[in-house]
Amino acid sequence: MVQDAREAWCKLKFYKKAKGPNKSGFLIECPNMKKILCFPGSNSSTSINYQLLLAISPLINDRELTLIHLKDYQSVLYGIDEEKKTGFPNASIALKELIDAHDAFIISTAEHNSGLPVALKNALDWLSRMERKVFADKPVLLLSTSEGRRGAMTALSHLEVFMPRLGAKVVGIRSIPEFSKKVEAGKLIDQSLKLELEQSIKSLLSEI
Ligand SMILES: Cc1cc2nc3c(=O)[nH]c(=O)nc-3n(C[C@H](O)[C@H](O)[C@H](O)COP(=O)(O)O)c2cc1C
Repeated sequence: MVQDAREAWCKLKFYKKAKGPNKSGFLIECPNMKKILCFPGSNSSTSINYQLLLAISPLINDRELTLIHLKDYQSVLYGIDEEKKTGFPNASIALKELIDAHDAFIISTAEHNSGLPVALKNALDWLSRMERKVFADKPVLLLSTSEGRRGAMTALSHLEVFMPRLGAKVVGIRSIPEFSKKVEAGKLIDQSLKLELEQSIKSLLSEI
């Protein structure tokens, strides 16, 4: 498993599993290093976009890495009435605190009916209400994957337009079609894709 490999790689570093029952993800603490936050644009517990982020995590070296699952940071559906009535949900506040504490981001989105999944759009809408430029000019690499031949490309293009509104500096985008042909048993098996993603991650890291 990639996560096992990741744990072995981090033997000399501080490694924490995500806290709380049924929570997914991990945090590799490397004091004084720049911090990368990864999350999928999906709330599915079997999300292939989450699996993609897990598979590419060994490509991110010498940086503190946090991988979270959006399913652990879900808020009530955004509405102006809801906001006036109850204020900002705790999950959105927690997500904003994580964003504030990180220097760069990798988001991999799913696609629902040629658009962004509601879970991602909702999370971003709440964040935008807390702070319009919540990503504060920090660099972001945008990915997407699906089992289809388009690799959730339409959702990715929506995200590419949307993210700069939130202050994100989009430094790369890549849709990955036919997920199961690219990732097997948690590992990236497509070597040319691996090289390409290594390059994209290098570009992201060069921005911080
Ligand atoms: C409501 C719904 C709509 C979908 N629409 C699309 C679509 O427009 N394009 C696409 O490539 N896949 C679509 N799919 C299939 C998703 O690509 C598939 O569920 C994928 O696993 C989602 O990524 P995730 O596992 O990270 O959530 C749809 C799935 C659902 C449940």
